[in-house]
Amino acid sequence: MRAAIATAADPDQPLRALTVGEAPEPDVPAGWTVVEVRAASLNHHDIWSLRGVGLPPDRLPMILGCDAAGVDPDGNEVVVYPVVADKGDPRGYSLLSERFPGTLAELVAVPRENLIPKPAGVSFLEAACLPTAWLTAFHMLTTRGRVAEGSSVLVQGAGGGVATAAVALAVAMGKRVYATSRDSGKRERVAALGATAVEPGARLPERVDVVIESVGAPTFDHSMKSAAPGARIVVCGATGGHLATVDLRRLFAMRLELLGSTMGTRDELAALLELCVERDVRPVIDSTYGFSAVADAFAHLESGDVFGKVALDFLH
Ligand SMILES: NC(=O)c1ccc[n+]([C@@H]2O[C@H](COP(=O)([O-])OP(=O)(O)OC[C@H]3O[C@@H](n4cnc5c(N)ncnc54)[C@H](OP(=O)(O)O)[C@@H]3O)[C@@H](O)[C@H]2O)c1
Repeated sequence: MRAAIATAADPDQPLRALTVGEAPEPDVPAGWTVVEVRAASLNHHDIWSLRGVGLPPDRLPMILGCDAAGVDPDGNEVVVYPVVADKGDPRGYSLLSERFPGTLAELVAVPRENLIPKPAGVSFLEAACLPTAWLTAFHMLTTRGRVAEGSSVLVQGAGGGVATAAVALAVAMGKRVYATSRDSGKRERVAALGATAVEPGARLPERVDVVIESVGAPTFDHSMKSAAPGARIVVCGATGGHLATVDLRRLFAMRLELLGSTMGTRDELAALLELCVERDVRPVIDSTYGFSAVADAFAHLESGDVFGKVALDFLH
């Protein structure tokens, strides 16, 4: 079967570690099943894997990809929940492509309970954008950020997959949303989603109740300064650098909560799908590539010049 595979680790030029070619069909352990992938999407996670972050050399070659939607052996249209219980990992779980082969292949094996029915009104491409970036944003806003208790949200680095998801979801939840981006074109696009777009570091008209932080060092001080008393600053990533300075005086004086966040549960992914249908929210898709152009899709994501998700259509 065709697959996109990490065959090396290159911290500086991650695309050099990518091989697109043939891979053996997946083993299917007891309790697992196989999904015929119709659509997948890329995440920054895949770039980290190619850099060797979270994917040590002894696990190579590894099929990349966390996100997919497709068809199970009974013909059901399904979305794949990418978190797999994993006794071999110190966290007790791993993401597809970390220890078990990922979704950027014509077939992917997953535990049966990881399949969620795909609603008819959500396309395969849209569904394939939800399991990592959108689920992460949903979990950050709801379970971690308790956004229902507040009325305003700041999203840093608005162009990213997690960030566009957070903006679209927070707007759909009726919150006042502010978003930063370094790029004026992305600021225009995020404004069209319903956010007030500002330059990185700009003073906001109000302090916010929840900050969605996935950029890290370049934006973290602004996240702290933009937080209202009692606000939650929820961090899921550090694309721009993971060593940031924390003003502890501000942390305690403003009673801020600084929260780490990873992914979300299977039930949250099901709830997210429901919310997308009920409120007519759909993932922001930057671009769609046929699987034969998967290397171009990676290059586009790595360029950082994206607004929303980079999706892969396996039927083309
Ligand atoms: N913990 C989890 O479960 C989890 C889940 C998903 C993602 N993540 C992490 O979250 C991060 C975002 O993921 P993603 O898939 O959304 O990535 P992405 O689509 O590649 O988005 C990255 C965005 O970050 C901003 N950015 C990048 N470098 C920056 C810099 N030096 N200064 C300021 N902004 C910068 C850019 O926004 P602008 O160009 O608009 O400024 C860019 O659009 C990644 O680090 C990823 O590993 C974690």
